[in-house]
Order: sequence, then C-alpha cells, then structure tokens
Amino acid sequence: METTTNAPKKRILSCIQPSGIPTLGNYLGALKNWKTLADEFDGAFAVADLHAITVRQDPAQFRKQISDVLALLLAIGLDPEKSILFIQSQVPAHSQLAWILNCYTQFGEMSRMTQFKDKSQSHADNVNVGLFAYPVLMAADILLYQADLVPVGADQKQHLEIARDIAQRFNTLYSPTFTVPEPYIGKQGARVMSLQDPLKKMSKSDPNPKSYISVFDAPDVISKKIKSAVTDSEGSVRFADGKEGINNLMGIYACCTGLTNAQIEADFAGKGYGDFKAAVAEAVIEELRPVRERYTQYSTDKAYLKEVAAQGAERASRVANRTLGKVMKKIGFVLP
Ligand code: TYM
Repeated sequence: METTTNAPKKRILSCIQPSGIPTLGNYLGALKNWKTLADEFDGAFAVADLHAITVRQDPAQFRKQISDVLALLLAIGLDPEKSILFIQSQVPAHSQLAWILNCYTQFGEMSRMTQFKDKSQSHADNVNVGLFAYPVLMAADILLYQADLVPVGADQKQHLEIARDIAQRFNTLYSPTFTVPEPYIGKQGARVMSLQDPLKKMSKSDPNPKSYISVFDAPDVISKKIKSAVTDSEGSVRFADGKEGINNLMGIYACCTGLTNAQIEADFAGKGYGDFKAAVAEAVIEELRPVRERYTQYSTDKAYLKEVAAQGAERASRVANRTLGKVMKKIGFVLP
C-alpha cells in the first residue's frame, strides 16, 4: 500500500504582471506566500507579461520591468532549481490554450468580471478584446500546470472561480482533463489597502505614489509614506469598523511581525498613532530589507536572469505541452 509520504506533491502556480514596480500589497498578498508554499509544494511561478499588454506598455520600460520582476522572484527566495520560474510569453502553450478556452467561455461570464468593469473605466480609450478575455488567459496559465492551489490576493478570487468553472465544464464535456484549482488566500494581507484611501486596494497603477509602498522603496521613503497614511481622529490602536486606515496598518504590521490584532492592541494600549506608525514602518523596512538587497544583486546579473528564464521556459513548456496535447486530442485536432 502506498504511504502518504509517497503521494505526489501538490502543485501550485501563480503569476504576477510586470506592469510596474510591485507593491507591498503584491508582496504580502501573494509573493510572501509563494515562498512559504514553494518549500512545501511543487511550484511554478511566472512573470505574466502577456497579461500586462492589455494596457499599453512602453517597449523599453516593459522589457526592464519583465527582467526586474524575474529578479524579484529570485529575491523573495524562490529557488530556480526547485520551482519553475518563467516568463509567460516564452511558453507558447499559454497563448494556444487561452485561444482554445476562449471557445469554452461565455461572453456573459466575462462581462460579469468586476476587474474588467473597473479597468474598462480606468482605460476607457483602450477597452480591447484582450482586456475582456484576460481571465481566460489566466485560466490557461493555471490549468496547463494542473495546479491544485493558486496563491493570490483577494482581488483575484473571481478570476479563480471562472478558472474552476472552465475546468469543470471541459472535464464534463470530454473527460477528466484538468485539475480543478483551489485559491489560496492568506488570512492576513489578502487585501492591503491604499495608504491614502483605505477603501481602495493598494495598487502599483495608482497615480499617487504616497498611496503605495513599492518593494524597492528605500527605508526613509517607507517611513515617510507610513507617517502620512490616512487614519482617524480617535487616536487609539484598535481594529474596528470605520477605522479602515488603522485596520489596514494593523494588517500590514500583523503580516510583518506575526502578531495577532489582540496582541497589537495590547502592545499599543495608551500609545498614539505616531508610535504605532513608527513601529509599522520599522517592521515593513525589516521585512523588505533582504528582498531589496537580494534584488539589487540579481537585477544587474543579466546573464544569470537569462539563464534562469531559459531553463524555466524549457521546464514549463514540458509540463504545459503535455496538458495542451491532451486537450487538443480530446477536442479532435489532428496532431502532427
Ligand atoms: P497582479 O500582478 O495584479 O498581482 C500579483 C498578485 O498580488 C496580489 N495583489 C494584492 N494582494 C493584496 N493586497 C493588494 N493590494 C494586492 N494587489 C495585488 C494579486 O492578488 C496577485 O495575487 N491576473 C493576475 C496575474 C496572473 C495570475 C495568473 C495569478 C496572471 N495569470 C494565474 C494567478 C494565476 C494579476 O493581475 O496579478
């Protein structure tokens, strides 16, 4: 009888868009969990450059951002010998499966996606078909790797649900083909909010740089941004409705220190927001310090980054092409 120790490891997959410098939200909501899960599971992590062209990118800047985000994956501690680290556009199976899955996805389903509705408002001059079909490409990313778990922030939950629906639909129409993925959304950090408007999620595309902390911000910049974070006039550090600014800072602090809200409230009882903000800034600086240091080292080593990407694309293609082949065969395509 097979023992549990011989059972195949679960697969995880996740991606990040190279559409700007990643924020503390990306880090606490996703990247930090990738590192933890990668130690336990078989991981594949990608720079989702195909997703990023749903909004216009400056070519030179885009090229740099792709390379920088790959360096960031190494800087958070992912090991390219263990996990598959790759650039999405270097694995053609993603585009191929996305086209196929477009034909198994309904127009109505895509029209209900809240991110599409938001983005078509913020990019009203460029509501392209790619923006509309974006969740299908994301489903292709996930399903190609037969991922069991997908670590993401709360904003991607709806996209995960559609990926599950597409997988189930295909499995029912033909025969079991895709693993139906589960989202992995951390208890803390799944929705880091803007420092200037804590009702909005922290986002790298926010025009106000004071609203977000970038993972590469210098310590003094982090301190300044946290100092100017919007709070309330009550002056007591406690988690409660109507105190979204403080709730957000408590969430950030909890993620960086491992403390619970109750412990944080106890530690800061009788102290003001000035003391609390200084402690939050310190915790964030210490959390990001090793990432920033390793990033500086990796981002300048272009030859190594190229090697990591090439090896990652090869390994990713092997897994992805296996799934793509099965899918094409089931549909009735004539394979070469
Ligand atoms: P992206 O690039 O916008 O963000 C990368 C990851 O960061 C999370 N995140 C946040 N978490 C907490 N608080 C925030 N303020 C915050 N902002 C972003 C996101 O939830 C995400 O997990 N469509 C995806 C990329 C993608 C993908 C995939 C993800 C492409 N293919 C396949 C998973 C599986 C995106 O735009 O993430």
